[in-house]
Amino acid sequence: MRSVDIVVAADADEAARLVAERLAEQARAGGSIVLTGGSTPRLAYEVAARPEPDWHRVSLWWGDERCVPPDDARSNYGMTKAALLDRLERQPAAIHRMQGELGRDAGADEYERELAGAGAFDLVLLGLGPDGHVASLFPNFPTLDVTDRDAVGSEAGHEPFIDRITLTLPRLCATRELLFLVAGEDKADAVARALAAEPSRETPGSLARAADGTTRAILDRAAAARL
Ligand code: 6PG
Repeated sequence: MRSVDIVVAADADEAARLVAERLAEQARAGGSIVLTGGSTPRLAYEVAARPEPDWHRVSLWWGDERCVPPDDARSNYGMTKAALLDRLERQPAAIHRMQGELGRDAGADEYERELAGAGAFDLVLLGLGPDGHVASLFPNFPTLDVTDRDAVGSEAGHEPFIDRITLTLPRLCATRELLFLVAGEDKADAVARALAAEPSRETPGSLARAADGTTRAILDRAAAARL
């Protein structure tokens, strides 16, 4: 359960292309995909619409969201809409965005209701912060210990410093495949701690593993430098 299959791509573009292919494959197969925010996945989302512009078989979820309206430049949903959804010929069967505009606690409660009865995900995509955070689960935050909820509100532990809604660790890990996409030399230390060291609350990425499935990481050479 703990080991991670690692693919090292030549550069960030190649890493994004590999993730785009995986997303397109899941779109074709159907099921459920959990998307991540941040800047690294943007290119993967843009490219993913090319090989498969018909996403009507899948449902989309998000791992975390910033507490802003969906048209705010900092919204993870907004980024996905511009990079991916606006490029598709057929929209996903369901788009379960986190409602950041409700605020962190009401937004998390609402997502919890939306997730009720949803089974394990098929594919969870995660980025990794330079501090080792995943989704909006930050180092040593009490949210790391929540096991009786699917989604919780959180203060920001990283830029942009606005409140967040995040899936909890058990909900993120309830997936057939958990896939990290990480690029850049500023992530090399976090990558080593998250993928190749003992699990630790100081590095939330080290706690993110598919509970009953495969965990993979697609990295560029710079991010993989300390493995
Ligand atoms: C967010 C995230 C977050 C992100 C990492 C990496 O809302 O910011 O979902 O967990 O994946 O911070 O972000 P970058 O790709 O921008 O480095």
